[in-house]
Amino acid sequence: MDQASGLRTDGGATANNGGRIHLPRVISITSGKGGVGKTNVSANMAFIMAARFGLRVLVLDADLGLGNMDVLLNIRPSHTLQDVLMGDRSLSEILVRGPGGMLILPAASGVEEMTSLTSEQNLRLLEEFESLSMDLDVLLIDTGAGISENVLNFNMASRETVVVVTPEPTSRTDAFALMKVLFRRQADKPFLFLANMVRDRQEAIGLFDLVSGVADRYLPGLALSFVGHLPSDPSLTQAVRSQRAIAEMLPGAPFSKGMEVVVRSILSRPPRSGGDGGIGLWMKRLAEAGMEKT
Ligand SMILES: Nc1ncnc2c1ncn2[C@@H]1O[C@H](COP(=O)(O)OP(=O)(O)OP(=O)(O)O)[C@@H](O)[C@H]1O
Ligand SMILES: [Mg+2]
Repeated sequence: MDQASGLRTDGGATANNGGRIHLPRVISITSGKGGVGKTNVSANMAFIMAARFGLRVLVLDADLGLGNMDVLLNIRPSHTLQDVLMGDRSLSEILVRGPGGMLILPAASGVEEMTSLTSEQNLRLLEEFESLSMDLDVLLIDTGAGISENVLNFNMASRETVVVVTPEPTSRTDAFALMKVLFRRQADKPFLFLANMVRDRQEAIGLFDLVSGVADRYLPGLALSFVGHLPSDPSLTQAVRSQRAIAEMLPGAPFSKGMEVVVRSILSRPPRSGGDGGIGLWMKRLAEAGMEKT
C-alpha cells in the first residue's frame, strides 16, 4: 500500500481547467543560533519522507558553514550549483542520490550567488527547476543560521519555515529575533516550531510556550505552530561519525522515532491554499528578495 496516500503534499491542487497541477511543497529548515541541529534534522527528515512515506524529496544544501549535508551523509558530489551557474552543467547533472532515494542538490558553493543572478542565469535556472519540479513532492532547504540576507531570502522564498530551537536561552532569543525579521517582511509566513535536544515532550512544550508567549505579546498575528520534539540522543553522535542518517542506521533510536512523528505532523498539515506553491514561484521569490535589497 502506498503509505503516502493522503499525505501527498500537493493537496491535489487543481488548475482552472480542472486538471491537476503538481506543486512540490517547499520547506526551509532554519534557526536563529547555529549548531542547533538543522543539518541533522534536514537529512533525517528527508530520509524518512523518502524511505518511509515514499515521497520524492530534494534537499537543497544552502548552508554555507561547516558540517554540510554531503559530509554528514558521506556523499561526494563532483559538481555543485556553481557549475550550473557557470553554464558548465545542468541542474539534473549535479544532483546526487542519497540514502532512501532522496536527491541532494550540492549548493553550498554557488548558493550565495542565487539571489543575485543575471537575468539569463535566472531564466535558465528557473526553467531547470520547473522541469525538475514535476518529479518532486518536497523541496527541503537546509539554510545557514541567523539573519544574514542570504538566510532570510531562502526562508522568505519558502512557503513554510521550520525553526529549530534548543533549550539554550540564546537559541530561544535568536529564534525570536529571526522570526521577528521574517514576520516584518512577510506577515503571513507560517513558522513550524521544532524543539531539538530536549529531555522530553514536556520540556519541548515549555520551550514552545515561552517563545509563543513572547511572540503573542510582541508580534501579534505571527503564525507559530508546534510540530514536535527531538530528544537529546547520544546515539546521534555515533551516526554522525559513521556518516549515515541515524533514521536509516538506527531506526529505533529516540531521535529517529521522534523524527518520524515530526514528519507525520508536518505532512498532515493542510497544504497552503491557492496556487501559490511550487518551485517556479520559489525561484521567482528568491530572485525578487535578492533584488529588493539592492
Ligand atoms: N538531538 C540531538 N541529540 C544529540 N546531539 C545532537 C542533536 N541534534 C544535533 N546534535 C549535534 O549537534 C551538532 C550540530 O548539529 P548540526 O550540524 O545538525 O547543526 P546545524 O544547526 O546544522 O549547525 P550549523 O548552524 O553550523 O549549520 C552535531 O554535532 C550534532 O550531532
Ligand atoms: Mg548545518
